[in-house]
Amino acid sequence: MLHCSQISKLPRLKALFLSLCSIFLLSASGSVASANEPAKAAPAAAVAAAPAAPAAITAKPIKGDATVGEALYNSGDASRGVVACITCHGPKGMSAVATWPKLAAQHGTYLTKQLKNYKDGSRANPIMMGMAATLTEQDMLNLATYLVKQAPPQGEAQDKATLELGQLIYRGGIAAKGIPACSACHSPNGAGIPAQYPRLGGQWAEYNAVQLGYFRDGTRKNVQMNMIAVKLSDLEMKAVTDYMAGLH
Ligand code: HEC
Ligand code: HEC
Repeated sequence: MLHCSQISKLPRLKALFLSLCSIFLLSASGSVASANEPAKAAPAAAVAAAPAAPAAITAKPIKGDATVGEALYNSGDASRGVVACITCHGPKGMSAVATWPKLAAQHGTYLTKQLKNYKDGSRANPIMMGMAATLTEQDMLNLATYLVKQAPPQGEAQDKATLELGQLIYRGGIAAKGIPACSACHSPNGAGIPAQYPRLGGQWAEYNAVQLGYFRDGTRKNVQMNMIAVKLSDLEMKAVTDYMAGLH
């Protein structure tokens, strides 16, 4: 800016430098529309003349848009039958009750995988199968890109009597029963490990306990979690999920 105003004192060069400065500022702010306009015209004509097939390939989603995801999350899209996720999952992915899992700060790859699993029925839940049915792959990516950016959920363990057992299982597993430490995959502070292992810290204990039950009876399929859940008793599930609710 200093250079621009100093140079602009020389009348003859003023117009040239001001236009150079403005092009520079436009580029710096990410908007290069005016500089790019002439270059765009030719490829546009070429694309128009090209057959439809390449366009279908480029239509495959590659990147999520958090702003578009946020709008869909908060308002849904009545024209396509997409229900607003906020109704159940709460503002910024922080649901108010344990029936509905918190989605805030959950890893994007995990979220899109779950939504695909609901859509193809491999994660069988009547409510979410209906919700995911109307979502495109691009919607899923947009929603996940928005959700992963939200502040991680905070919770509290409720049952002091099982806290120690819960912590033992989470941090060390139960060697005698062949149960591995949860922290090995879900990380010591419960944040998970992108992209494979979901965040568990701060999630509703009741929701996570229900999911462990689904992994145990095979309703929800995942080789790693199925093998672990069949070895956990009801008490151990309750203890470890209550401990995880307060983990952050
Ligand atoms: C009517 C309430 C309701 C609405 C609306 C809803 N959900 Fe859900 N959602 C649920 C319930 C209940 C579950 C738990 C289902 C289960 O046990 O598998 C869930 C689970 C999920 C999960 C899995 C979370 C995890 O930790 O594995 C994701 C992801 C999800 N919902 C995303 C969405 C998105 C995105 C929308 C909006 C397009 C949405 N939901 C709308 C009720 C709802
Ligand atoms: C070997 C790695 C591994 C270990 C160890 C592990 N998990 Fe998992 N866990 C996973 C994976 C992978 C998923 C995601 C499964 C899917 O995609 O549906 C998962 C998912 C979960 C979920 C579902 C979360 C949600 O939002 O729906 C819960 C609950 C869970 N694990 C609890 C535990 C507990 C408790 C332990 C320790 C006793 C444990 N896990 C140990 C790999 C592991």
